[in-house]
Amino acid sequence: MPKNKLTVIGAGNVGASVAAYASAQELGDIVLVDILEGIPQGKGLDLYEATPVLGVDTTVTGTNDYAATANSDVIIITAGIARKPGMSRDDLLATNVKIVGEVAEKAGKYSPNAVIIVVSNPLDAMVYTAWKKTGFSPRKIVGMAGVLDTARFRTFIAEEIGVSVEDIHALVLGGHGDTMVPLTRYCFVGGVPVTRFMSSERLEQIVQRTRQGGAEIVGLLKTGSAYYAPAASAIQMARSILSDKKRLLPVAAYLDGEYNEKGIFLGVPAILGEAGVEKVIEVDLTPDETDAFKKSAQAVKDLVKEVDKFL
Ligand code: NAI
Ligand code: 2OP
Repeated sequence: MPKNKLTVIGAGNVGASVAAYASAQELGDIVLVDILEGIPQGKGLDLYEATPVLGVDTTVTGTNDYAATANSDVIIITAGIARKPGMSRDDLLATNVKIVGEVAEKAGKYSPNAVIIVVSNPLDAMVYTAWKKTGFSPRKIVGMAGVLDTARFRTFIAEEIGVSVEDIHALVLGGHGDTMVPLTRYCFVGGVPVTRFMSSERLEQIVQRTRQGGAEIVGLLKTGSAYYAPAASAIQMARSILSDKKRLLPVAAYLDGEYNEKGIFLGVPAILGEAGVEKVIEVDLTPDETDAFKKSAQAVKDLVKEVDKFL
């Protein structure tokens, strides 16, 4: 069977970590692209030289030339600037819309059949940008946010209860921002509702910490934002697509009438397989949850309006 080919655009903190996880998990041959000269080549070679130690047969190539990305199966876009303390994800918009638009367009031309996973922020608006600039089917473009947001939520819940993180299942809907909608009704610990394990006050504190999860790391790092958990999350999505595993994950998917929204990408549960987003799953929401989801959708629509000014 031919090996998968995975392109990672942006060889910064997230991109290099994505390449490291992808290589360690032997997901396929990896091409790491950046605008900086030497950085992708150096990091790529360093990762390639780790493969004998890890016992994996993947090549890792660093480059500034998109020709090397041709015929990729999956493209992960991490190019752009990251948050510094005091900046919201939305502050990144003007700079990142140019960067993401340009790299998506270039990479899309060389790999017209790829599925693109966008990581750059502000996430929901950048997925939209990549869609507009590539002209790809919207099912072939997906954003990473919900896997990370639920990973944070699952970590905090597992720590609180003292059980394996593996046994926590959670769902976060909406945009990757302060309006995200963690659905506590859909959080289970080994099949048992999470409310069996803690008071609603404590659960709400954990929800708030999840909402602030990105800012918590920015506050600690001071010079940038999170990258290990974001990279691991992007890799979980890439694996599901490359292996056609059909994982049901919270991702920023194109809505075409689902959840009464149309024409935007927003965090919802969806099945990821070789075709990309193969199905968006609709779940029942209470009136309060519906209101929160609508608010989140409105915040994303406001951002998309800004993006449209640049496109
Ligand atoms: P970073 O600054 O470490 O790396 C960004 C890389 O992009 C740099 O190496 C830079 O040279 C490169 N780049 C800039 N313009 C480029 C261009 N035109 N072509 C190719 N490469 C270009 O930033 P980091 O920490 O890796 O974050 C990357 C992005 O991911 C940020 O926008 C950040 O906000 C976002 N992010 C999103 C998350 C999510 O949950 N969706 C989680 C974590 C980060
Ligand atoms: C995060 O949630 C910055 O969006 C990034 O860590």
